[in-house]
Amino acid sequence: MAIRVLITNSLPEAAVEQLRSDGFEMVKRNCTPEELGSVLREFDAVVIRSATKIRKQQIDEAKGGRLKLIIRAGVGMDNVDVEYAEANDIACRNTPISSANAVAELAVGHLFSCSRGISIAGHTMRQEKWEKKFHSDGVELFGSTVGIIGYGNIGRKIGEKCQALGMKVLSVVHRTKPEGCECDTMHFVSLDELLSRSDFIVLAFPGGAAKPLIDAETITKMKDGAVLVNISRGSNVDEAALLEALNSGKIRAAGLDVWADEKNPNWELAAHPNVTCTPHIGANPGSAQSGIGSEVVEIIRKFPFSRPTSWITKCPRRRYFPAAGAQLFLLE
Ligand code: MLT
Repeated sequence: MAIRVLITNSLPEAAVEQLRSDGFEMVKRNCTPEELGSVLREFDAVVIRSATKIRKQQIDEAKGGRLKLIIRAGVGMDNVDVEYAEANDIACRNTPISSANAVAELAVGHLFSCSRGISIAGHTMRQEKWEKKFHSDGVELFGSTVGIIGYGNIGRKIGEKCQALGMKVLSVVHRTKPEGCECDTMHFVSLDELLSRSDFIVLAFPGGAAKPLIDAETITKMKDGAVLVNISRGSNVDEAALLEALNSGKIRAAGLDVWADEKNPNWELAAHPNVTCTPHIGANPGSAQSGIGSEVVEIIRKFPFSRPTSWITKCPRRRYFPAAGAQLFLLE
């Protein structure tokens, strides 16, 4: 019997065709949260993007069916209850490699835009306003310090690009200190030190924590006039506190690709003159998406569908994603 794979959101056609020609039965179908669990019973694997949530309810409904594998075509696993799935012998995988550079480039784009007011200057020019004087208070990235919170695949690429721009990079340790990063222009420090020393702060760590890391309390620890860029998850920032800090000038500018509620973003924040914003497009370039498609093909081809599911989820293997909401372990 053919292995059945459900695709609930988009996946590049080339990847779908490769798997189909390998003999997998590929089915594309959007499901409501209510129907997803029972649909999953009929499939061996499901490929999702961020729009599909697989929580306890869907896993309970899928239990006892065919489902053995959940693949998140992307990095963040905050839309899947991974622990509960694995406790129920459903393996979870993500595609951590292909979109890292695209997301890192967008982060750097936001840094440039925030430092020179590119977004708002372009907006006012479209209104036929020549506000050269108003937009003359820019700062250079060169020589400044960027604190990158989260130094995984994406954070590390941001760090490399910032170093190439002549910036000094700080980060905090998450679980274990990544090897081969520290040098004259890159250091791991405590969170408080990062907050107090950074001219620019970039968030590149998983979402899903009980409370946002950037809130009124952490904002007070930042340098006056710091810039905040978030390309990770909207839940990592208390948006009301950020708006207040932008209004008071404590935070000079913010570059936001992710939002606490992406179905109904905080429009007041998006409209703030010192905010440069994008609608969660970090991983969207075609090159990144086709790489994600290839990662998905590899995962499905290599997955031991015929093994007992308990063997698959219990056998030791490298995890490619940090637990959502994992605490940042700080180096003192
Ligand atoms: C990811 O986690 O891969 C990115 O945020 C992109 C996405 O969710 O679509």
